[in-house]
Amino acid sequence: MLSDRIGRITPSATLAMTAKAAELRATGVDVINLSVGEPDFPTPENIRLIAKQAIDNGHTRYTPGGGTMNLKRAVIEKLSRDNDLQYDIAEVLISCGGKHSLYNACQVLFQRGDEVIIFSPYWVSFPDFVSVTGATPVFVATDPFHQYEPVMEDLSAKITSQTKAIIINSPSNPTGGVWCEQAVLRVLELAEDADVWVFSDECYEQLTYDRTYVSTAKLGGNTKKILTFQSCSKTYAMTGWRIGYTAGNEQVIKAMGKLQGQSTSCPNSIAQVAATEALIGDQSEVYRMRNVFKERRDYIVERLNNMSGVNCNTPGGAFYVFPDFSSYMGNDKKIKSSDDLSMYLLEQKAVVTVSGKAFGSDGNIRFSYAASENDLKRAMDLVEETLTELK
Ligand SMILES: Cc1ncc(COP(=O)(O)O)c(C=O)c1O
Repeated sequence: MLSDRIGRITPSATLAMTAKAAELRATGVDVINLSVGEPDFPTPENIRLIAKQAIDNGHTRYTPGGGTMNLKRAVIEKLSRDNDLQYDIAEVLISCGGKHSLYNACQVLFQRGDEVIIFSPYWVSFPDFVSVTGATPVFVATDPFHQYEPVMEDLSAKITSQTKAIIINSPSNPTGGVWCEQAVLRVLELAEDADVWVFSDECYEQLTYDRTYVSTAKLGGNTKKILTFQSCSKTYAMTGWRIGYTAGNEQVIKAMGKLQGQSTSCPNSIAQVAATEALIGDQSEVYRMRNVFKERRDYIVERLNNMSGVNCNTPGGAFYVFPDFSSYMGNDKKIKSSDDLSMYLLEQKAVVTVSGKAFGSDGNIRFSYAASENDLKRAMDLVEETLTELK
């Protein structure tokens, strides 16, 4: 009955865990949810206020398919202010979240016979975005001890005449890894030699804690084969508003706009007014949230590394840690995989996490620290208790 196309997609593991947490909570269990991929802060007040006014001022109709002129201008201003990147209106497209931007770009560039390089551990959606187009995802190893930067020999070996694109996601979900400039430059060099596209998913670009973030297109001299993807979701605590944007090659942007026009018509009109305020209005909440996330990162990394047999490298960004629990796993043990450990934490301790297996890395568990200090402390106490039980 269903198309082959839909058979190539697997359900999002992170959304599945969020649903499980909600189910458990509905039965009255006091759940600590560290599986979420969104800030626990409310959308800043200036943005909420503008959105309410937008409704009263009649911004409630279809907008141009690729987004309003005001929001595109705001994106251009933001990219220039924060990333030192210069784009024209025709090189910018607004979509219904960064996920939609990335999906559209894959749809207009990839097809059967193409190969697309994805660094592992990867965000759960990348392989599906690629597979649904008929193209093949090709996974490249990374180094957990160096911010999950690529193993360059593996990258070189995996680039073939079929390679159409390389997807970079730094800061990364699920690892939080932030690549150094030399690593990005080396990837860009290899991409240029092979004449392949580079997708730079920068949805966590405002959440880096140890060094100033430099956009991939900036390092690549803004070349015509780099597409930059950013989003209002994580930076402005606006996950539910669904606004993301792409900047890059005019022809690709135009094709993405055409696809969007025949699928979602346009991004939400009220959210576009709100996103304009988010991008060019007061940025102080962004800095405040970043500082809180940094403190939480330091806390959770220290707690995890104090647990015997656990290794947690310090991630440079996003709001995830990706510790290695493999010393607690094995065929002769009660816990055989990260799926088992994640399920044990859920069923025995009501702590919701995401198994590393979903991200291509059995042995690890992803904890989101977009949660209150109290929840983080309680969760870490329960993880510690679990590991004592499993010894
Ligand atoms: C790596 C990565 N890219 C893109 C997105 C898309 O976010 P949104 O569609 O809310 O902009 C997410 C969200 O979890 C993500 O983790």
